[in-house]
Amino acid sequence: MSNSLEAHGALAPNPTRRTILRGGSTLLAASSVLPLARGFHPGGSGVIKVGLVGCGGRGTGAAYNALMAGEDVKLWAVSDAFRERMEDSLLTLLGKPELAGRIDVAPQRRFEGLHGYLGVIDTCDVVLLATPPFFRPAHIRAVAEAGKHLFAEKPVAVDAPGVRSVLESAQMIKSKGKTLVAGLCYRYENAKRETIRRIHDGAIGRVLSAQTTYNTSGLWHQGRKAHWSELEYQVRNWLYFNWLSGDHITEQHIHSLDKIAWVMKDRYPAKATSTGGRSQRTEAKYGNIYDHFSTVYEWEDGTKCFSSCRQWNGAASDVSDHVLGERGVAHLMSASIEGASPWRNDSEEPDDMYQNEMDALFASIRDGKPIYDGDIMAKSTLMAIMARMSAYSGQTITWDQALASVEDLTPQGYAEGFPEVAPVPIPGVTTFS
Ligand SMILES: NC(=O)c1ccc[n+]([C@@H]2O[C@H](COP(=O)([O-])OP(=O)(O)OC[C@H]3O[C@@H](n4cnc5c(N)ncnc54)[C@H](O)[C@@H]3O)[C@@H](O)[C@H]2O)c1
Repeated sequence: MSNSLEAHGALAPNPTRRTILRGGSTLLAASSVLPLARGFHPGGSGVIKVGLVGCGGRGTGAAYNALMAGEDVKLWAVSDAFRERMEDSLLTLLGKPELAGRIDVAPQRRFEGLHGYLGVIDTCDVVLLATPPFFRPAHIRAVAEAGKHLFAEKPVAVDAPGVRSVLESAQMIKSKGKTLVAGLCYRYENAKRETIRRIHDGAIGRVLSAQTTYNTSGLWHQGRKAHWSELEYQVRNWLYFNWLSGDHITEQHIHSLDKIAWVMKDRYPAKATSTGGRSQRTEAKYGNIYDHFSTVYEWEDGTKCFSSCRQWNGAASDVSDHVLGERGVAHLMSASIEGASPWRNDSEEPDDMYQNEMDALFASIRDGKPIYDGDIMAKSTLMAIMARMSAYSGQTITWDQALASVEDLTPQGYAEGFPEVAPVPIPGVTTFS
C-alpha cells in the first residue's frame, strides 16, 4: 500500500470524535464497518497480549519497555495512520535480540489508518496509546468500552471537552477493575518519588511557591510532499497544529506542570495568568502554535507556581523545577533538597522511568491490583490547557472556567478530510469560550 494515504481512504477522519465528546458513542457503528481480526479469548494462555496505537518514537519506546517487563508479555497488534511508520517500528523492535520471541504481529494484526485502533483494541489485553494527543479521548473511550488495560501517553486531550471525556472514560476503566497507567513518567522515577515524598513529609516545611521551566530548542518538521493531502500533511506535522498537539505547553511542558501538581498533593491551581506568542516560529509551516509561554498559577491557599516554557533554537536551555518551602528548597530534576533537612539522591540503582512505568503496569495486571492514573492525567492536561487558554485570550482563566470550556479545537473541514488551519491566536482579540 502506498505511503501516501488519501484523505478519504485509510486516513479518513474519525467521524465519531464530536459524538464521543458530547457524551454519546458511535464507536460500535464505526467498528461494524471495519475489517477487524476476531477470535480473541482473554486470559486463556498466560500471555499478556499488547497492542500499540501510534508507532512513532515514543510508541516504539513504550512497546520496547512493555516487552521488557516480562517474558509473558507479547506484542500482538499494531496500528498507525501510515503503513511505513508501523513497519519501521516493527523492524526496530525485531532488531533487538533481547526481545526475541516476544513479537508476534501477524499481517492481519497490522492495522493501517485512523480507524486501526479499533482492531488493536479488539485483539489485545493491554493497549498502548501514543498517537498525537487529539486522538486520545476517542481512543481512551474505545479502550474503556472494550474493558482493556490502558497505557496512555501524555497529554490525554487538547481541549476541555476532551478532558471531560477522558475523566468519564477513566472512571469506566476503573469501575471495570482494569489498570490505567499514564505516560506522566516522572511519577514512576524513584528519584523524583523520593524527593516528593520528602517534601510531603515536611522536609522543606510548608510549600510557598514553585518555579518550573521547560526551555528547549525547536523540534522536527517533516516538510510537505506534493502527493500528501492537507490532512496527511497536518497529521505528519502534528506538533505545529494546536488541534492535534494542544500546543507545546500541553504537549511538552505538561511534564513540569504535572510534577508541581504532584508536589501540591494533586490539588490543582485555582487560576492561571499566562503570556505567550511566536518569536521564532513565525512561518506558515509552523501552523498555529506559539513558541513560548510564561504563566503564573495560583492555588486557593495562595501558593504560586511561576512556569515558563519555550522552544527556541540558539537560546539557553533549562529544564528544571524548584520548590520553595518555609524551611528549604527542593530541586526536583537533580533530586536534592537544601535547607533544614538537606538530602541528595545518591542511589546507584537503575531508575529508568519509562521501564519503571511498564514494570508497574504489568505487575499490577499479574497481581490483580489495578493502578489508576486517570484523574491526574486528565487534570494535569487541563492545567496546561488552562494556561494556553489564558495566553491565547490574554485573560486570567480559572480552573472552573477551563474545565467548563466549550472550545472544541477540531478544525472546520476535518470530517471532510481538509482541516482548515485556525488563525494564530492574538491575546486580547481571541476570545475564550
Ligand atoms: N512521556 C514522554 O516522555 C514522551 C516523549 C515523547 C512523546 N510523548 C508523547 O507521545 C505521543 C507521541 O509522540 P511521538 O514523539 O512518538 O510522535 P511521533 O510523531 O514520533 O509518533 C506518532 C505516531 O502516531 C501516528 N499517528 C498519527 N495519528 C494516528 C492515528 N489517529 N492513529 C494511529 N496512528 C496515528 C503517526 O503516524 C506517528 O507514527 C505524544 O502524545 C507525545 O506528547 C511522550
